[in-house]
Parts: sequence; structure tokens; C-alpha cells
Amino acid sequence: MSESVAVIGAGLVGALVALGLGHRGYNVTLFDLRDDPRTAGTAIKKNLRSINLAVSDRGIRGLEFVDSEMSARVLKEIIPMHGRMIHTLDGKQESQIYGLFGEHINSIDRAKLNESLLDEIDTFNKTAVNQIKLKFEHKLVNLNFNTRGASVECEVRYGVKRSFDFDFVIGADGSYSNVRYQMQKYIRMDYSQEYIDKCYLELYIPPGENGAFLLNPNHLHIWPRKEFMLIALANSDGSFTSTFFGPWSLTEALKKAEDIETFFLSNFPDAADLIGMENVVKAFTGNPKGALMQVTCSQYHFSDKCIILGDATHSMVPFYGQGMNCGFEDVRILLGLLDEKETREAAFDTYTANRHKDLKAILKLALDNYKEMSTKVISSAYLLRKTLDSFLGRLIPQYWIPLYTMVSFRGDIPYSQCVRREKTQQKILKCIELGSITVVAIAAYWKFKK
Ligand SMILES: Cc1cc2nc3c(=O)[nH]c(=O)nc-3n(C[C@H](O)[C@H](O)[C@H](O)COP(=O)(O)OP(=O)(O)OC[C@H]3O[C@@H](n4cnc5c(N)ncnc54)[C@H](O)[C@@H]3O)c2cc1C
Ligand SMILES: *[C@@H]1O[C@H](CO)[C@@H](O)[C@H](O)[C@H]1NC(C)=O
Ligand SMILES: *[C@@H]1O[C@H](CO)[C@@H](O)[C@H](O)[C@H]1NC(C)=O
Ligand SMILES: *[C@@H]1O[C@H](CO)[C@@H](O)[C@H](O)[C@H]1NC(C)=O
Repeated sequence: MSESVAVIGAGLVGALVALGLGHRGYNVTLFDLRDDPRTAGTAIKKNLRSINLAVSDRGIRGLEFVDSEMSARVLKEIIPMHGRMIHTLDGKQESQIYGLFGEHINSIDRAKLNESLLDEIDTFNKTAVNQIKLKFEHKLVNLNFNTRGASVECEVRYGVKRSFDFDFVIGADGSYSNVRYQMQKYIRMDYSQEYIDKCYLELYIPPGENGAFLLNPNHLHIWPRKEFMLIALANSDGSFTSTFFGPWSLTEALKKAEDIETFFLSNFPDAADLIGMENVVKAFTGNPKGALMQVTCSQYHFSDKCIILGDATHSMVPFYGQGMNCGFEDVRILLGLLDEKETREAAFDTYTANRHKDLKAILKLALDNYKEMSTKVISSAYLLRKTLDSFLGRLIPQYWIPLYTMVSFRGDIPYSQCVRREKTQQKILKCIELGSITVVAIAAYWKFKK
């Protein structure tokens, strides 16, 4: 009989790992506390914040590792984004290309990706001998580990509880993970959760006439205004999903229509035209404001009985566009270890031992990138260094890879190595800059002496 596994959470990471385990012959049951998003009424659907995500190399590698044909199907409608488009206060747009050799990140609708991964489970069911069972409206409330494996207790409708027995459990139940909490009773897990003083709010830029894009769809648009910023990513129907990020106090103080209008017009005049002032006011007064936090923990598994993946282990702020990408990388690495190691416990042990430094690295990169997106992108010192960085990246690509390229386009380089290489590169850049300043100063001195 095949080993049975419960995957808790049918979000992006849970659905992907369920498919990967299904392909490996495990007997998989996937639980989620919510309704099936594909059959839930449109009223519920509309309430779900549709966020589009940037999917890049690490995410795509994860999908392909599970099933390359599946990957091609779920990534069908992605929109390539070749660079940032900086919107200055005076309404100018400046493109800053991401890749040195045409590489790009991609915009994808989160809800659609979510649903297409669930559709892939149906497709899997029709073709494979083993089946992946989906249990919606099953909220994990308790986990007990015993010598046989794990007992999963769920609350179904009307507070009724049901228990299921499995050989092991994978927790992919997001930032507020209950699996993580349950595991903390069994292992010495360091754990921290930290909010940052920024909230986010969604806005919508409708398509123009005949579904035309009102902005260049192949860029990630940024209105960098230091303490706050606006971004926009294209959707395949000609619209853009735009997100405002700003400190809580500032955002919550914008209550009256006239204050919102003044704020928006003085900071994002071109975006105000595209969104429509009435809709801006509606969004600021009516749309939910999301909190941003990071979660880290130190150990991701308990013997061979339980392991957590995705946001459950590493909730990060969204400024590097890596949360889901990193979660899909988790899936690729874990499945690879299960393929490679003799026992499940050896796979889990190695996962925890090796993954921690990389997760720590990307969490920090994500946090630091707010400053890059909101402030540095308009500084001339930054642009100068970036030009030099790109120049060296083109000149000696084997030796020099800009940080953004490593993180977003080179999933073969672990996050911690990206950081290490970047430190060295920044030191060299500083030396080159100092060197050139010195040369100029000496030249000026000699000229003056003559
Ligand atoms: C504003 C914003 C922008 C972002 N942009 C990007 C981006 O551009 N690129 C990128 O890669 N990432 C991005 N992310 C991050 C990305 O959204 C997350 O990393 C990703 O959704 C994590 O997936 P997950 O499956 O681990 O968790 P989730 O998507 O949170 O899924 C968890 C699932 O578990 C279920 N669940 C929870 N508790 C229980 C329980 N007790 N019992 C049963 N089920 C349960 C939930 O219903 C949910 O379906 C962004 C995030 C935000 C907030
Ligand atoms: C994705 O699917 C999960 C599981 O059904 C659901 O809980 C979540 O709300 C969905 N997210 C979006 C954005 O559709
Ligand atoms: C897959 O098949 C099993 C067994 O027939 C069934 O219980 C389950 O609901 C199916 N899953 C999906 C996603 O249709
Ligand atoms: C799969 O696992 C579940 C839960 O342990 C069990 O009830 C079911 O009989 C198993 N099915 C197969 C085909 O092994």
C-alpha cells in the first residue's frame, strides 16, 4: 500500500506539492478550510482580493519539476515584464530593464493560477491510477503524532469534527499556519513574527477601448514616492491591478473624499486619470487594507511525520516578488530530496539543515527591497552604480551577475549565495567608484598646478 499524506492548505504551494506527491505514487488528501474557489458563488469570488503575482525563474522551475506539460498549461496567460517603468512626479515614464540578456519576470493572475492548479488535480485524477482527494471546508484544528503517523482533526460544517489518519502531514497553510503551531508542541522551534509599518490597498486600472492596455503591459509600473508608493501589473484582459503601499497612519488618515483626492492628485496625477478619481476614493474608503509581516522559524519538520512549506515557514514582505516563487522552490527541493534520500526522515532532516540559510537570505532581501523600489530607483548614484553593474554583467557574465538577475532569473543559484556574491560585487563596485573619483581628483589637481 502506498504511503498516505495529508496536505493542509490548497493554496498555491499546497496544490503544487499535492500534484508532485501524486505523481510519485503517494496517496494524497488535500484539505482547505475554504470552499472550492471554482464553485463558490460569484459574490464570494468578488470579495477575494485579486492580486496578480510576478512569477519568475524559481517559480517556473518548481512547476516544471512537478510536471512540465502542466507548467506550460498553467502559465499560458502570463504577461512578460521586461523591466520597471518609473513614473516620476511630473508624469514622465522611464524604463529600467531587468535582465541583461532579455530575461523577464511575468505577471499572472493569482486566482486563476490557484484555480488552474486545482483543475490540474482533476486532470491528474482522470489519468493516474492513484487519486488526489480534495476536501474543502475542512479546517485543521488539531494534529496528533503517534507511532503510526499523524492524526489530523478537522472541523467541518457546523462545528462537527472529524479525524483522519495519515503516515505524514505537509503543512502549506499560509502565514498563520496551524500546522506550524501544532508542531511547536513537539519540537524546539524558534519562531518570530514581525509586522512592518506598511499596509497595502488594491486599486484597479480598467482596460481602454477594445481591451487596449492604457500603460505598457510589459513593465512593472512603479510610482516611487519614498514613504509610500504605487505599483501596477498588467492582467491579460487589458486591465492592470495596482497596489498602493504606505504607512498605516498615513493610509488610515485618508478618510474624507477631498483628502484622498488631494493626496492622490498631488502624488500620482497620471494614475488618478487612469483609475478615475471616484474609484480611487472608493478604494481608499471601501477596500480592505492588508497588513504586511514576516514570519521565520528555525526548524521545518518533526521526524518523518510532518514538514511545513511556503508562507507557513517564510512569510515575507512582497517587495522582491518572491513569496510564491520561493514556495515553489521549497516544493522542488523537498520532492528532489524525497527522490534522492533513502528515507523520508533523511529527506526532511536535510531539508531543514540546508534550507534555513536561503530562507533567511530572501526574507532580508525582500525587506530591503522596499527602499530600492520606493526610493533608490530615482537616485542618480544608484543609477550610476546600476549602469556599471550591468556593464560588468554583460562584459564578464561568467564572473559577474547583478543581484536582481541572480534572484529572479537564476534559480540555480541559492538565495544565500546570491547575497554572498552580491556583497563581493558591491565591494568591487565601491573600489571602482573610489578609484575613478581619485583619478579624476588627481587629474584635476595636475591640471590646476599647470
Ligand atoms: C500584496 C502581495 C503581493 C505579492 N506578490 C507576490 C509576487 O509578485 N510574487 C510572488 O512570488 N509572491 C508574491 N506574494 C506572496 C504570495 O502571495 C505567497 O507567498 C503565496 O500565496 C504563498 O502560498 P501558500 O500556498 O504558501 O499560502 P496561501 O496562499 O496563504 O495558502 C494557504 C492556504 O491554506 C488554507 N488554510 C489556512 N489555514 C488552514 C487550516 N487550519 N486548515 C485548512 N486549510 C487552511 C487557506 O485557506 C489557504 O488556501 C505576494 C503577497 C502579497 C500579500
Ligand atoms: C486560492 O485557493 C484557496 C483554496 O481553495 C482559497 O482558500 C484561496 O482563497 C484562493 N485564493 C485566491 C486568491 O483565489
Ligand atoms: C479524485 O478522485 C477521488 C476518488 O475517486 C475523489 O474522491 C476526488 O474527489 C477526486 N478529486 C478531484 C479533484 O476531483
Ligand atoms: C489513502 O489514505 C487514506 C487515509 O489514510 C485511506 O483512508 C485510504 O484507504 C487510502 N487509500 C489507498 C488507495 O491506499
